[in-house]
Amino acid sequence: MSIEIRPITPTIGAEVVDIDLTGPIDDQTYAAIREAWLDRTILLIRGQTGMTPAQHIAFTRHFGDLEYHTLPQFTLPEHPEIFILSNIVKDGRQIGAVDAGRHWHTDSHYLKEPSSGSILHAKIVPEEGGNTRFANMLAAYEALPEATRKRIDGLKVLVSRIKAYPVSYPNRPPLTEGEKARVPDVIHPLVRTHPETGRKALYVGGNVAWEIVGMPTEEGRGLLAELREFATQPEFCYEHEWEVGDLIMWDNRSALHCAMGYDTAKHQRLMYRTTMVGSVPY
Ligand code: SIN
Repeated sequence: MSIEIRPITPTIGAEVVDIDLTGPIDDQTYAAIREAWLDRTILLIRGQTGMTPAQHIAFTRHFGDLEYHTLPQFTLPEHPEIFILSNIVKDGRQIGAVDAGRHWHTDSHYLKEPSSGSILHAKIVPEEGGNTRFANMLAAYEALPEATRKRIDGLKVLVSRIKAYPVSYPNRPPLTEGEKARVPDVIHPLVRTHPETGRKALYVGGNVAWEIVGMPTEEGRGLLAELREFATQPEFCYEHEWEVGDLIMWDNRSALHCAMGYDTAKHQRLMYRTTMVGSVPY
């Protein structure tokens, strides 16, 4: 089976053309997809309207073990490996997270072993808004001035989901004691080495990156904000306007992403996401 892989922008993303993920895919094709994903940090595959949750999970399994989200109330009851991003209310219950990820972040950055990658499948998309932005942290790190790279190599970040949650999600009920127990504070390197490619990437995931260890809080936050601003300049970014059936897989070890808002009173959005278990960043 031969596939065509086209770069999306010079610095980030590739599109895999003419592939049906619900049909048979040989090992060589999986290897080509994996190589492009690692190299380009995000891969877009359009037209997967017929893909079921079970097929989504099976496709994900080729790239890693499935992660279960720490907020199971937003997962698909019959397939808890699927996290739902949606504003749809069914039987009086919000079926998914409406406001997830509306800031630059990498998924489950707050875990000791954060996710290696995520695969998002568009089921219902708003007529307007609801785009997702991605930024390549390998390219951003490589573009930093030498003096900045020297300054930040070896720094560590205190990542606190518990402290950041009310800031990121002021409209959600506070985390319960049980939910807090699943997300104790962790310390991650500010620059991480990609475990599969050996390349270095900035690891400045969202406001869960609470402070830099050993640096006064405000100075650390200032440096994190400065690096995030540098890393999310248009030259490192791609913004995707979703169509039903689109699927994007991103590498959480080398890409930041950010969900853009939409008018939740006017439009519906339903997205299914799987994430893969990662390893301790170094
Ligand atoms: C996320 O995974 O952070 C959500 C992305 C999106 O809903 O666009």
